[in-house]
Amino acid sequence: MEQQRLAVFRKTHFNAAHRLNNPAWSDEQNARVFGKCNNTNYHGHNYELVVRVVGAVDPETGYVIDLGVLNNLIDVNVLQKFDHKNLNLDTAEFANLNPSAENIAIVIYNLLRPKLNTNLDLKIRLYETERNFVEYPA
Ligand code: NI
Repeated sequence: MEQQRLAVFRKTHFNAAHRLNNPAWSDEQNARVFGKCNNTNYHGHNYELVVRVVGAVDPETGYVIDLGVLNNLIDVNVLQKFDHKNLNLDTAEFANLNPSAENIAIVIYNLLRPKLNTNLDLKIRLYETERNFVEYPA
């Protein structure tokens, strides 16, 4: 019988502040490119995080991955790092990396990937607003 692979999802959220700024650019260029997200004194977003794991259904458990285990991995490796933090000032990950939704999704992927079995595929979807969201890998 062909292996039955399917996707399971865990949806969670965190609140964080950030500022998008490229120190190599002038104030004018930063303001033009990043708009409100360039605000000098930072601003917050309510990030919605959807973690998608694809794998085969284990015939013994009926699970792809125990969602309680997945939730704990997200909590320990992502939420405890970023929730209620200023991403630019409080986190090593964004000390020198612009905390755009794109970069946050890539960082979250890289934090979780080593914690998951290699036979599971991982995809991160991150909503910065209800209408603006990114997915990594594409
Ligand atoms: Ni912003």
